[in-house]
Amino acid sequence: MYRSHTNGELRIENINQEVTLCGWVQKSREMGAMTFVDLRDRYGITQLVCGEEHIKIAKELGREDVIQVTGKVIERESKNKNIPTGEIEIAVTTITVLNKSKTPPFTIEDNTDGGEELRMQYRYLDLRRKPLQEALKLRHKLSIEIRKYLDSINFFEIETPYLIKSTPEGARDFVVPSRMNPNQFYALPQSPQTFKQLLMVSGYDRYYQIVRCFRDEDLRADRQPEFTQVDCEMAFVDQEDILNTFEGMVDYLFKKVKNLELAEFPRMSYADAMENYGSDKPDIRFGMTFNYINEVAQNKGFAIFDDAESVIAIVAEDCSTYTRKELDKLVDYVKRPQIGAKGLIYVKCNEDGTFKSSVDKFYSEEDLKTWADKCGAKAGDLILVLSGDKATTQNQMNALRLHLGNELGLRNPNIYAPLWVYDFPLLEWDEESGRYHAMHHPFTSPKKEDIGLLDTDPGKVRANAYDLVLNGTEIGGGSIRIHDRTVQSKMFDLLGFSKEEAQAQFGFLMNAFEYGAPPHGGIALGFDRLCALFGGQETIRDFIAFPKNNNGRDVMIDSPSLIAQEQLDELNISINPIS
Ligand code: AMO
Repeated sequence: MYRSHTNGELRIENINQEVTLCGWVQKSREMGAMTFVDLRDRYGITQLVCGEEHIKIAKELGREDVIQVTGKVIERESKNKNIPTGEIEIAVTTITVLNKSKTPPFTIEDNTDGGEELRMQYRYLDLRRKPLQEALKLRHKLSIEIRKYLDSINFFEIETPYLIKSTPEGARDFVVPSRMNPNQFYALPQSPQTFKQLLMVSGYDRYYQIVRCFRDEDLRADRQPEFTQVDCEMAFVDQEDILNTFEGMVDYLFKKVKNLELAEFPRMSYADAMENYGSDKPDIRFGMTFNYINEVAQNKGFAIFDDAESVIAIVAEDCSTYTRKELDKLVDYVKRPQIGAKGLIYVKCNEDGTFKSSVDKFYSEEDLKTWADKCGAKAGDLILVLSGDKATTQNQMNALRLHLGNELGLRNPNIYAPLWVYDFPLLEWDEESGRYHAMHHPFTSPKKEDIGLLDTDPGKVRANAYDLVLNGTEIGGGSIRIHDRTVQSKMFDLLGFSKEEAQAQFGFLMNAFEYGAPPHGGIALGFDRLCALFGGQETIRDFIAFPKNNNGRDVMIDSPSLIAQEQLDELNISINPIS
C-alpha cells in the first residue's frame, strides 16, 4: 500500500493514528534538529516533522521530490487556521524518496513567479498549482452535473465521428489527409451539426454530447482551435421548448455548482439588443442603454451630428465630476484603431443644474437640457455621445459602454446575468464575396411569417435562432432547423451553392430529409466558456488541461511540427520546405 490517506484528509480526530502518506515536497525548513516538510498532493498539504534520526535524508530533500512517509498523527503546537489539516502534523518514523525532482523552473504556488510561455512549456508542473486544479475540478463538476441533468430528462449521449467532411460553420476546417484515399482529405468537425440532425431522423429525439470541436480561426481569450461543446438536439420541439429546457439546465448548474438561485432569465430580440446595446450579446449586469438623440441634436449647426445617420448617447451616472484628463482618456479610448471613432462629445450635467459640454459653441444650456431629458440624465451625470452611420456607431458605443462598465466596477464577476437573444437575421450580406452568408448556419429555419421575404428581401428574413448570453459572453447558440428538402435546397440556392455543389456537399442530409425527418432543433453551449464564467475568469485557457497558445501552438509537445518524408510520401503529399 503506497498511502493510507491523502494530504488533505487528516484532522484532529486522527490523532495517534499511524499513517502513510505520499506526495510532492512543497517546501522544507530546518529548525534546529528538526526539519518541517510541507507535503502536497491534489487534496491538500500536510506538515511533516522529521526528527534528528532523519536529518541526513531530510536535509537533502528538494522542492518537488516525490516521497513516501509513515508516522503518527500528532497535534500541532502552533496551529495553522488557513488550511484544513492545520491542526495536526505527522511525526515521521520512516521516509523514502520515491523519485528526485530537478528544481522546477517556477514556483509551484498559488501565485507563481513563472511567465506565461514558461508555464505553458511545463504545463504538467503548472497543473500542480492550486488555481489550475480548482479550474479542472470545476470543469469536472460541471460536466458531471450536465450529464445528470440531461440524463434525468431522457437525453442520450451519443458519439459522432471526428473524421468527417467539412461542416459549414463559418470558420476554416482542420483537414487530415487520407492514406488509403490518395489526394483526399477528411475534415475535423467544427461541430457535430449534421450528425445530430441525422440522429433526429433516426428517432433519437433527445441527443447530447460533450464533444471536442475544431476550428481554424484567429485565437482570442475566449477561443481555442480545439474546444468543447455541450452539443444538444431535440425532435418534436419548438423554440420555446428548447429555451425552457436549457434555461432549466443553466438554473440547475448554478444551484448545484455554485449554490446560487438565478433571479431571472430575460429574453431580448436581436433587434432590441442591437438598438439598446449595440451588441448581440449585451452584458445586462448594468444599464447605460443607448439613447438616439438625432431629434434634439441635429439642425443646430454642428455639421458632424447633422450629417450623421445616428447620434447615440449613453449616460454615465454620477460622473459629471470627470476631469479633463479622465475625459481625454475616454476620447483616446474611442479613437483607438480597434474602435475607430473620430471623436467623443460629452455633456456634464452639473450638480447645480447647469450644463457644460464639449460643443458649447453649437448648443445652448437649454439645448443640452433637452438632451439630458431625452436620455433621462440627472444632475451629477455625464452624457457621452458618438455619431456616424448607425451600425458603426452602435458598435463603437458598445465598446465604450463595456469599457465604462469595467472602469466603474459595474461588471462584477460574482453577479450572473443570463439572457436569451432570439430572432436573429437568417442571412448576412458579405461585401467581399458579394453574397449572403448564413448568420448561424445553413440548416437554420426562417421564421414562418418571414418566408415570403426570402424571394423579395432576404436580408430582412428572421431566423428561428437564439443565443444564450451570460455576462456579455456568448455561451451558446442554436436554432430550429429546416427539416424539409425543398426549403433546405432553396436555402443553399440563396447562399450561392449550385444544385450540384449542394448535392455533393449536403446530399446525404437532404436525402435523409426525404425519409421522415421530424421537426427538430437544438443548441450547443461552449463548455470552456461556461467553465471560465463559473470560475469568474475571462480566459478559457486555464479551464483546459493542455491548451494551445495564441499562435495555435502547443509549446509543451512542440506542435504543429514537420513530419518525416516517408510519412509525406505515404500520404502522397509534397510540401514546399520553408528555408
Ligand atoms: P456555434 O458556432 O454558435 O454553434 O458554437 C456554439 C458555442 O461554442 C462556443 N465556441 C467556442 N468556444 C471556444 N473556442 C472557440 N473557437 C469557439 N467557437 C465557438 C461558443 C458558441 O456559442 N452547431 C451549432 C450549434 C447549433 O446550432 O446547435 C454551433 O456550433 O460559446
